[in-house]
Amino acid sequence: MKAAPRWKPAFVPQIFVPDERGAGETRVAATPATTERLVRLGHAVSVQSGAGAAAGHTDAVYREAGAAIADDPEAAWARADVVLVVGPPSPEAAERLAEGATLIGLLAPARNLDTVRVLARRGVNALALELVPRISRAQGMDALTSQANLAGYRAAIVAASSAPCSFPLFMTAAGTLRPATVVVLGAGVAGLQAIATARRLGALVRANDIRPAAAEEVRSLGAEFIDTTSEAGQAEGGYARAASASELSAQQEVLAAHIAEADAVICTAVVPGKPAPTLVPAEMVERMSPGAGIVDLAAAEGGNCALTDPDGEVDHHGVRIIPAADLPRSLPGEASSLYARNQQAVVQLLTGDDGALVLDTDDAIVDAALLTAGGEVRHGPTAEQLGEREHA
Ligand code: NAI
Repeated sequence: MKAAPRWKPAFVPQIFVPDERGAGETRVAATPATTERLVRLGHAVSVQSGAGAAAGHTDAVYREAGAAIADDPEAAWARADVVLVVGPPSPEAAERLAEGATLIGLLAPARNLDTVRVLARRGVNALALELVPRISRAQGMDALTSQANLAGYRAAIVAASSAPCSFPLFMTAAGTLRPATVVVLGAGVAGLQAIATARRLGALVRANDIRPAAAEEVRSLGAEFIDTTSEAGQAEGGYARAASASELSAQQEVLAAHIAEADAVICTAVVPGKPAPTLVPAEMVERMSPGAGIVDLAAAEGGNCALTDPDGEVDHHGVRIIPAADLPRSLPGEASSLYARNQQAVVQLLTGDDGALVLDTDDAIVDAALLTAGGEVRHGPTAEQLGEREHA
């Protein structure tokens, strides 16, 4: 029997995966497994030499998966139809993208306005994964969730390993050691995973959030809920609304006694596109016991602790304040594996039946995630921020 002719799209999109280790990144936006799937979808994939090294993937394994290894990154950026990244490129790297090219990654637009401006000017279609809506069809593309789960887990491990006490209750012939008390601020994806992990390690856990829906989730993990919720605390899409100054001060008052007793505080409270709420002012740190620790996942957004320094650990009256903005980087293989699957799902969404790439803004996911396109910044809050900066 004659074999059916192999269907070939007229245009084969060129996907490029750069090496981001220069920016301190350990993760990679495509693994050999997702490369294989992208090639099967009809795309040509090129991976910068060494891109997967920190995540445990050699050039040879990418080659076996069907990728070409790019030794000239400048040319690869310029030639690509699609560039898959973990974090935002520098403005210089963004300048290399061809007009009409597509960039997909966690682009943190609020903190990378210079890059956003270049992307818009060059007519790049930039899809920011943090803008993917939390709808069930988009679950496979939800990079915030995949990375926050690992960050929350790791935060509890960092808190346990830096604490001067053990987390579980120990009953021995020589005496009983009480379990550690851990306070988790913010009970979204990362917070809930931190609670679950600290509970598994045997700690007594208390947690706080301003969204009423969080209370039941916290209690279902065996933790106590410190209630400072308000119906108005929840905004669109399940996210929190930024608390007012008076709400924050009332919240701090409730939290003060719990934080003073804590052996470890894990901070995960954030509001998308806004500075993180200050929940632990300096005076509260001073009431904690020397040796206690604060692990602040919100460090990149300013931190939940007023004393958090995003660039390094601070010792304040014997309390360690550990910035922890990039915890998924400490699990490069696993974090890349989940992240690359998120990226693959997005590319799949954009791939039409004929193998060509289509950016259909009638699709709710594309419409929400498309940060820049056609020379414009499409995301309202980012466009506003850029406008404010230009008029300042
Ligand atoms: P996030 O990373 O934006 O914020 C972390 C947590 O901080 C949130 O729980 C938020 O309520 C809390 N927070 C903000 N301000 C606070 C304050 N002043 N005090 C205390 N806590 C404060 O949140 P994340 O993890 O991205 O989750 C956001 C929402 O999306 C949640 O409702 C979550 O259940 C939902 N979600 C839905 C998914 C789906 O349906 N596919 C997947 C993942 C999350």
